[in-house]
Amino acid sequence: MKGIILAGGHGTRLYPVTQQISKQLLPIYDKPMIYYPLCTLMHAGIREILVITTPQESNIFKELLKTGEQWGIELSYATQAKPRGIAEAFIIGESFIGSDSVCLILGDNILHGDNLSTRLQQVKKQNQDSTIFGYYVSDPERYGVIEFDKDDKPINIIEKPHTFISNYAVIGLYFYNNEVVKIAKNLIPSLRGELEISDINQYYLDQKKLHVEKLGRGIAWLDTGTHKSLLDASNFIYVLEQRQGLKIGSPEEVAWRMGYISADKLEVLAKPQIKSGYGKYLIALLN
Ligand code: G1P
Repeated sequence: MKGIILAGGHGTRLYPVTQQISKQLLPIYDKPMIYYPLCTLMHAGIREILVITTPQESNIFKELLKTGEQWGIELSYATQAKPRGIAEAFIIGESFIGSDSVCLILGDNILHGDNLSTRLQQVKKQNQDSTIFGYYVSDPERYGVIEFDKDDKPINIIEKPHTFISNYAVIGLYFYNNEVVKIAKNLIPSLRGELEISDINQYYLDQKKLHVEKLGRGIAWLDTGTHKSLLDASNFIYVLEQRQGLKIGSPEEVAWRMGYISADKLEVLAKPQIKSGYGKYLIALLN
């Protein structure tokens, strides 16, 4: 299974902060935002990952994340010239995906919770036609939303519904079989001019090939679309990291725990980062 992180877009809801810099490079407390979704894919056991960015910022992402070899993974890069929608990721990534299945994560989605890693590895192993996740939120109108019938079966996926249909938002993490490339290519842009991920999900649903998993309240799903939610996400990471003395979203740590890199390698990665305390943390893991 291949992985894609979509880190394009202009982040206009965060202006002026994102006027000159990609939202996914902003810090969430002590790490660049993109570290978090990257770690989610690594936790799922996905090691071949395509990072899609704006053309303007492609080099900054490459300098930050490099080839991935340092973390025992393989990163490639592509660009999305205009924000033409999330589903375009599968068209841009067509040759990277090849004949594989694919997991897409949005570069601004932060997931944290007990057993999440095992759960994602199971989803990967189950190899369903498609799997998406529903998360109970207080403001579903901001997201793609899943409507369920009285037997709790999904019957509709609606992007940013104007009237209330349910509290279950579709989070920005999607597992699809290879058919998704063809489906994306046949999509018609929505009224906002985008190839909608919700239309892909609706397609799988209509074919009775959509598997929806609900994530319970023990899992935190944060997005960072507004100034407030950005600050909330930083505060959330800060509070947990202070309390436990354990970091969330460290690719070095995940790589080492997943067995992608050796202890020696971890030490090498830690050294240049000693001054910020981040490196010290990584060294302490080894003791
Ligand atoms: C996008 C998707 C939406 C999904 C959300 C998750 O919304 O279109 O279906 O629920 O990401 O973060 P956007 O960020 O484009 O508003």
